[in-house]
Formats: sequence, C-alpha cells, structure tokens
Amino acid sequence: MRIAMIGSGYVGLVSGACLADFGHEVVCIDKDPDKIAALNEGRMPIYEPGLDALVAENVRQKRLAFSTDLKPAVAGAQAVFIAVGTPSRRGDGFADLSYVYAAAREIAEALTGYAVVVTKSTVPVGTGDEVERILREARPDLDVGVASNPEFLREGAAIGDFKRPDRIVIGAEDARAAAVMQEVYRPLYLNQAPILFTGRRTAELTKYAANAFLATKITFINEIADLCEQVGANVQEVARGIGLDNRIGAKFLHAGPGYGGSCFPKDTLALVKTAQDYCTPVRIVETVVAVNDQRKRAMARKVIAACGGSVRGKRVALLGLTFKPNTDDMRDAPSLSIIAGLQDAGARIVAYDPEGMEQARPLLQGVDYAEDAYACAEGADALVIVTEWNAFRALDLARLKAMMAAPVLVDLRNVYASADAEQHGFAYAGIGVA
Ligand SMILES: NC(=O)c1ccc[n+]([C@@H]2O[C@H](COP(=O)([O-])OP(=O)(O)OC[C@H]3O[C@@H](n4cnc5c(N)ncnc54)[C@H](O)[C@@H]3O)[C@@H](O)[C@H]2O)c1
Repeated sequence: MRIAMIGSGYVGLVSGACLADFGHEVVCIDKDPDKIAALNEGRMPIYEPGLDALVAENVRQKRLAFSTDLKPAVAGAQAVFIAVGTPSRRGDGFADLSYVYAAAREIAEALTGYAVVVTKSTVPVGTGDEVERILREARPDLDVGVASNPEFLREGAAIGDFKRPDRIVIGAEDARAAAVMQEVYRPLYLNQAPILFTGRRTAELTKYAANAFLATKITFINEIADLCEQVGANVQEVARGIGLDNRIGAKFLHAGPGYGGSCFPKDTLALVKTAQDYCTPVRIVETVVAVNDQRKRAMARKVIAACGGSVRGKRVALLGLTFKPNTDDMRDAPSLSIIAGLQDAGARIVAYDPEGMEQARPLLQGVDYAEDAYACAEGADALVIVTEWNAFRALDLARLKAMMAAPVLVDLRNVYASADAEQHGFAYAGIGVA
C-alpha cells in the first residue's frame, strides 16, 4: 500500500518506519525542514532505541522516504495518517487542534482519488467529524473516508509496542474505510494482534480513557506512598501485594515523583475539558490532574527536608532529567518543577542525563551540566535520582559518598534499597518507604 504520514515526530516517525517495515511504501512528511534534512542524512531527530537501524534499513529498501512536500506524497496514497502534535492549548488546557485541522486542509488539496484520512494524533471526541467536514467542504468532489486510529506506543519502547501491540483500535464509520485500515494492519493481524473495530467517536474516547486510567493508577499508588511514609509501611511491598491480583495488575504501580511526558498531562487535562463541555465531569480524573500537579513541586520540598530544611547555597545534583528513561523527551518532565522548586529555595543545581541534556538546556536556566553521574555528584550536598535510567541503577555508592560534600541520597524512583544506602553511610529518602 502507499501511505503518507503527516508529522514525523515521535509517533509519525516510529509509525512510518514500522509500517514501511511491514512492506508498505511510506513517505513521512514534516513541516520542519531541519527534521527532514536530518532524516535524509540518516540522523534521527529523536532518541528512540532501535529507530536508526529500522529507518536505515527501510530507506535502503526504498520503502521509506522523507519530505517536506505533502502534495506528491498524498496524491495516490491509499491511507493518509495525521500524526501532528495536539498540545494543551494555552489558557484553557483543551487540546490544540490547529495542527490537525491545518493538516486536513492541506490533505484535501492534495488528494487525487479515494483514500482514508486517519487521525493517529490523540484527538478529542468529534475531531474526526470536523476533519471530515473540512475535507468535504474543501473538496465536495472527493471520495474520502475518515478513520480514527489512536496510537498507544510508549516512548523508549516504541518500536516493540508498534510491532507487537496489545491491541489496535480502529474507529471507522463505513465498511470501505474499515477495509483499507484492515489492509494497513494485515501484517499485524497475521501475528494475532487483536484489532478492535469501533465507531470513530468510540476510538477517539478509548485513547483518552486509556491514558486517564493509567495516570489514575500512578496517582493512586503515589498517594498510597505518601500514606506509607506516615504510617511506617513500604509502598513497594503494598504495590506487589495488590499488583499480583490479576484484577489490578502490577504495571503502573511504581510510586514516584508524579507522571510527566508528552501525553498523560495534556491528555488527562483534555479529557477533563471534554467531559465538562458535555456536562458530565470526570471528577476522578480532575482530582488526578490536581494531585499530580502538586506532587511534582512537593518533590522539591522532599529534597529540602532531606537536606535538613534548607538548600540555600547548597549544591544539589540531579540524576535524570527526561520524564522517563530511554527517551530524550523533556515535555512536562517532573525534573522541570523539581529544579524550579529547588532554585526558588536557593539551591545550585548540577544535572546529568544520558540523552536529555540537549533538549533540557533551552528549558532550564542556571543549571550546570555534568558529563556523567559521578562528575554530577562531585562536591554535592545531595544527590537526587529523578529518572531511573539503567546507568543509575548500579552506582558505586562508596565512591559517591567519598566524593560528595554531604551523604544525602534522595531516590525518587526507589532504585536503591534504603538499608543498602544507609550501610554505605548515606542519609536515604525514598518514596513511600519509611
Ligand atoms: N509521544 C508519544 O509517546 C505519543 C504516544 C501516543 C500518541 N501520541 C500522540 O501523537 C501525536 C503526535 O505526538 P508526537 O509526540 O509525535 O508529537 P511531535 O511534536 O514529536 O511531532 C509532531 C510533528 O508534526 C509536525 N507537523 C505539525 N503540523 C504539520 C503539518 N501540517 N504538516 C507536516 N508536519 C506537521 C511537527 O513539525 C512535528 O515534527 C499527539 O497527538 C500525541 O498526543 C504521542
């Protein structure tokens, strides 16, 4: 099949490369000429494990190409995916759909025959209806289908998630569009990935419901962690104790500094807004949003408490800046709020992240960057683990203690056992461990 992917960010690029790997002919389009130039030179604009090799192989096989020119890619394509950003709109927090609608208008001008226009971006209920309206208004002559195909991949494990998904959700309003989408995913269907065909609005809402549920699970265990600290219980053991119950499941029960990233914060907020618009507020999700917002800054207070109540003039070393490991994505990362809170309290910040420092630099002021974890800890009054990169899982605690000004370890991901850290002479503060 010929496929055009509009938007070559985390989702568009990974989806485009994987669809090419299934044997389709894919052109990934982006408005950003630097991004396309980098891709055409074989450089990845994002860090995602395995992506460079996958892209290189499919470019070599002539199944994958990159361009800023939407028109020739869309003309003759059987499926045109919209994978542009849908960030929170400034002011009201609703999803900003201007990129989606702009893409739809450009696609309308470029289509030459029957095609299915597919929103892969996370979009509020009813966006597919509006995309269809835009297409039909611009080109009343056009024979076109509009489908919703939300993406569930996780950054850092995106290729595996796309190729071996738990499920594929396709929202289509007619059999012809559904048949095209079935053909797109036929290689996965052969691998028995369940495909759910639903109405378009159902597919759109499924994505928000999934993210809101996962964000709720994280927030639940974070609040239980706070309670654990007060009552002398251990949240990791509580999480295991409940997670082994199949009805609950063990995933997304790791207490930490609050969720961040490019999806959960904006998607929970957009769902809250949609539900309010329809006069059926989702009060659980409203609370999750509020609790999580407050939690990120509370982590700065936790560090201050671990430092004896003040960080003024102290050097605080942060390990990990990205919102999770194996990505360079800094969008809504908890580190941003934690650093702001510590700087407000007078701390000097030094940070190290294996992949995220380039993305972090424009977002942070007054931060020194180190070359590795040990250089980061040198002379520090406290070491804070913010993101659980593998590189931080087996640090030499004796070496760290010897080089730090004060042996304070604040482990916001519970990577280390408190007994182990204390044995090495650290004052240890984890999450939900008394
Ligand atoms: N990042 C994730 O892990 C993830 C997972 C599932 C779903 N999603 C959803 O997928 C969508 C895309 O997310 P992302 O993280 O890939 O965003 P991104 O910001 O990394 O990429 C979007 C790209 O679209 C390009 N673009 C915008 N308008 C364009 C246009 N008219 N023509 C061509 N290119 C255009 C931008 O230049 C940018 O490169 C969002 O709705 C997001 O919520 C993201």
